[in-house]
Amino acid sequence: MVRILGNIVGAVFAGVLLLAFGGTVKDYFSEPPLPSVSEEFHLEPEHLALSSDGPFGKYDKAQLQRGLQIYHEVCSGCHSLNRVAFRDLKDLGYNEAQVKNFAAQFEVPDVNPDTGEPALRKALPSDYFPSPYANETAARAANNNAVPPDLSLITKSREGGASYVHALLTGYRDPKTYKNEKGEPLPKEGMPASATLHFNPYFANLNLAMPAPLNSDGQVTYAPGNPKPTVNQMASDISAFLVWTAEPKLENRHRAGIAVLIFLIIATALGYLSYQNVWAEAKRKVAPVGPLDPENKAKRTRATAKARD
Ligand code: HEC
Repeated sequence: MVRILGNIVGAVFAGVLLLAFGGTVKDYFSEPPLPSVSEEFHLEPEHLALSSDGPFGKYDKAQLQRGLQIYHEVCSGCHSLNRVAFRDLKDLGYNEAQVKNFAAQFEVPDVNPDTGEPALRKALPSDYFPSPYANETAARAANNNAVPPDLSLITKSREGGASYVHALLTGYRDPKTYKNEKGEPLPKEGMPASATLHFNPYFANLNLAMPAPLNSDGQVTYAPGNPKPTVNQMASDISAFLVWTAEPKLENRHRAGIAVLIFLIIATALGYLSYQNVWAEAKRKVAPVGPLDPENKAKRTRATAKARD
């Protein structure tokens, strides 16, 4: 009796679940969920071609130097680069003295050896790029409660890497006149919710707390012999630089990869040749001759059969 009751209750439960599921599926197809504003207006970054791309890629040192200049003159006001030491800049083609002079333009927290009080001192080549803020609270206070992320690994931590950084820096648009690929204007939900947010379709939720840091051609002055500092050029240069900060040893990795590939190709060829050598005896075909040759055997059988007839 109890078992029958239990079965009935179970069947009712399963039935209700099935009905609810059926209803949900029906609703999903009759009224599909509307795409969100950020889905409709978000753009994927266009590919940024850099000399470091591909298995044979090498850094363009002049471009990295320009990127360092952009970081120093524009981004370092808000963003730290705390995985990069000043001495690493030797990879960009600077000598000891240049690195020392460059480091001396930054101040890092230290302790006053006489009083034991916290103090600032000029950075040394062995120091890491310091944060412009004392701590996260200070960073938030200066940026309307948003924290500018450390840029050392940003090209590894964002989908699209350098292409994304380039697209983000060149992607600021006027939300009032912006139209997406279908020609639709931005609805109210997509507009910046406050004056401290800035519309950028490459940013995941369309509005970010960083005002366009590169906003006019010629914002920095490049040394003679370099391309014109257009916004696009500056954005490419800082993106290339941030690829380097995220992976300063990329060229070594490429070199090692190619050496390993060549080694594997040679090892495969040697392995194949020695395999042939080792199995040469065993695989040799032994053709029976004389009375054991199957053809001769058949002939013989036929001859005996004939003789018997
Ligand atoms: C006035 C301060 C300021 C300056 C100058 C500045 N940034 Fe930012 N940046 C911010 C803030 C604040 C955020 C966080 C934005 C947010 O999360 O809404 C940010 C975020 C970013 C992000 C991360 C976006 C993401 O996907 O989360 C990147 C990349 C970036 N900045 C690159 C740069 C580069 C490159 C420069 C120099 C050309 C630069 N920024 C200059 C304040 C600044």
